[in-house]
Amino acid sequence: MIWNRETRYTSYKAWPKETLPTLRKQVAKSKWRLQHHIQPASGLLNDPNGFSYFNNQWHLSYQVFPYGPVHGLKAWQHLISTDLNHWHDEGLVIQPDSKYDSHGAYTGTALPVGERLFMMYTGNVRDADWQRHSYQIGAWMDKNNQVQKVTPPMISSAPTGYTSSFRDPYLFERDGEYYALIGAQTTAEVGAALLYHSSDLKQWALQGELNLPANLRGYMVECPNLVEINGQPVLIFCPQGLPKTTLDYQNIYPNISLIGQRLDLDQVNFTAAAAPTQLDAGFDVYATEAFNAPDGRALAVSWIGLPEISYPTDAENWAHCLSLVKELTLKDNHLYQNPVAETKKLRATAQPIQAKVIDLPATFETEFTLEADEQVRLKVATTDADHYLLIDLDSQAGTVAIDRSHTGHPFGEKYGQTRTTQVKPHSALKLRLIIDVSVFECYINNGYTTMTGRFFLDDAATQLQLAGNVAAVSGTVWDWRK
Ligand code: FRU
Repeated sequence: MIWNRETRYTSYKAWPKETLPTLRKQVAKSKWRLQHHIQPASGLLNDPNGFSYFNNQWHLSYQVFPYGPVHGLKAWQHLISTDLNHWHDEGLVIQPDSKYDSHGAYTGTALPVGERLFMMYTGNVRDADWQRHSYQIGAWMDKNNQVQKVTPPMISSAPTGYTSSFRDPYLFERDGEYYALIGAQTTAEVGAALLYHSSDLKQWALQGELNLPANLRGYMVECPNLVEINGQPVLIFCPQGLPKTTLDYQNIYPNISLIGQRLDLDQVNFTAAAAPTQLDAGFDVYATEAFNAPDGRALAVSWIGLPEISYPTDAENWAHCLSLVKELTLKDNHLYQNPVAETKKLRATAQPIQAKVIDLPATFETEFTLEADEQVRLKVATTDADHYLLIDLDSQAGTVAIDRSHTGHPFGEKYGQTRTTQVKPHSALKLRLIIDVSVFECYINNGYTTMTGRFFLDDAATQLQLAGNVAAVSGTVWDWRK
């Protein structure tokens, strides 16, 4: 398939009926298919959307282009779950089928209101001259998961002084009033986040531009999110083109978090409590969506994939996945991320780490502590041992380094094949590593730092190999139940 404007934006109805079943059959054969992570049946997955709890179920959608591994005409693919581990695919819930979203039903969020779920997303439209128009569109979902879009759009254009790169409304409610924080770009091409207010979810008024620090804006802010943890506001967003002097990141674009002391919604004034940090110190996290769940937890899901980079699965007509659901907590103005407690239910047979070589299925988890001032090297390897994902732990220097240059299927090399993170030196180091065929999620020191990424071996990883002072390691390995 040649992916040009025409093929990328062909309406879903115009594709031959057999295209999707044929693609899905091909994709299902891939050796890199994940067993537990959310992945597209075919085509490309990107941002998580509409993560919410409604009608006694967890709802989560994602951006999808089902016809190929490229960014084409996007829709929302909808999933529901009762345990945050197993997701049932409900099909397309928002389709790009109106004049306000003709070139994509882009990212958005959801909020339960009464007996219904209110969703707000960006309608992407290209005119005859391929100029972009962005509409912020409302939609209601009832308890039967039936969706009705609201027309006309809630917000029909960016305000004066901003370009049409205006998207990804993040809905939230405070004291019975509704707000949407929207990613934006000034006409001087500086990133921004605009706060809109509504009392009735019908009339929306610009409250103002959020006072993001000047060095945190880049040229465009995508996917702004705002959660409250222990009464503190936490901003999570993706500033494209962020100067490396602000943050030393290696990924094409960073996904960052900024912990606040206070957020004054009337003044649209955010007071930071700490320096910004990368949400993930690994390779592939972007467009994280987080919300305050009614059970009191702040939950997040990330897109594991990055824009503008080819992945080995592209050749198989699918790309990317979502992360496990993570719980966000705050301690001493630092954001911790850990898989939700429910994830532990997936642990099946346990074995203590004793040997240097542990045979495993392609999906497993390990959690262990390395004593202070020790070094250990982990390989997630195929039995031929030529190909592996390499993880070096040094509890003397306090570093964790992940190297994916030996996997046999390199990609995104321009952005480096290793990532290293600094934790506390001369201290015991705790690692929780989840491997699901071709994705790793690495949680360091109880979620103080996370490192996430894809890796592609010729055969599924079947061994965990340890080198160094294995006697200084104590912990467990589990394979995961289906
Ligand atoms: C981020 C993003 C969003 C946009 C969506 C389109 O990855 O570019 O800003 O709404 O993807 O799929």
